[in-house]
Amino acid sequence: MINSVLRHAAAKPLVFACCLLPLAWLAWRLFGGGPQGGVLAANPQEYLNRYLGDWALRFLLITLALTPLSNLTRARGFVRFRRMLGLYGFFYVCLHLLSYTWLDQGFYWPEIWKDIIKRTYITVGMASFILLIPLAATSWNRMIQRLGAARWRRLHQAFYVIAPLACLHFFMMRKGFQLEPVIYAGICGLLLAMRLVKKLTP
Ligand code: HEM
Repeated sequence: MINSVLRHAAAKPLVFACCLLPLAWLAWRLFGGGPQGGVLAANPQEYLNRYLGDWALRFLLITLALTPLSNLTRARGFVRFRRMLGLYGFFYVCLHLLSYTWLDQGFYWPEIWKDIIKRTYITVGMASFILLIPLAATSWNRMIQRLGAARWRRLHQAFYVIAPLACLHFFMMRKGFQLEPVIYAGICGLLLAMRLVKKLTP
């Protein structure tokens, strides 16, 4: 039943459109929707940056969840969405990075560079972004053929480093102990543990 829904011709376009909903909501807020009528928050730059960062991390974790979900439910259809959701994660990370470099720093590169070197949570965020680039760049059928399935799979195992780094970036950014980053890190840890258990069981 789940499998036939997931494999339906309309499923991919529908999921694609749903992934744009966070941006649609943002546009609605910016153009006058919501309680404050066009005002995002007292500090709109910070709000935007954090909103995009949150969605980037959510998409990365949803992507990581698809294989364990498919193993648990025996519905292989979940795997069909891995590439699309991973690329959406990359897309939201790019917007998050753009909002930081543009709205926070006004494209003032010396300050951005200083931040990357001096603020450890930004160094960690940058490391996960840089590691994501080759994965996004090789997410096309032609690249998979070019690299060969084994090398492609090995390269894409970097995702198991990227997701924890992104969680660490979130954890370090929020000073002191806060529940939200711990929940994200917990979900990431659980998903990675599920993969490990599956790999180790004969
Ligand atoms: C995989 C890559 C990344 C992910 C998933 C990610 C995700 C996040 C998340 C979830 C937050 C916290 C949002 C909140 O408090 O609700 C955040 C904050 C932040 N991120 Fe990232 N991030 C990534 C990469 C980067 C990069 C490359 C930079 C800049 C070079 C960056 C700069 C920032 C800054 C400046 C904040 C704090 C904003 C503030 O103080 O209000 N991030 N990020």
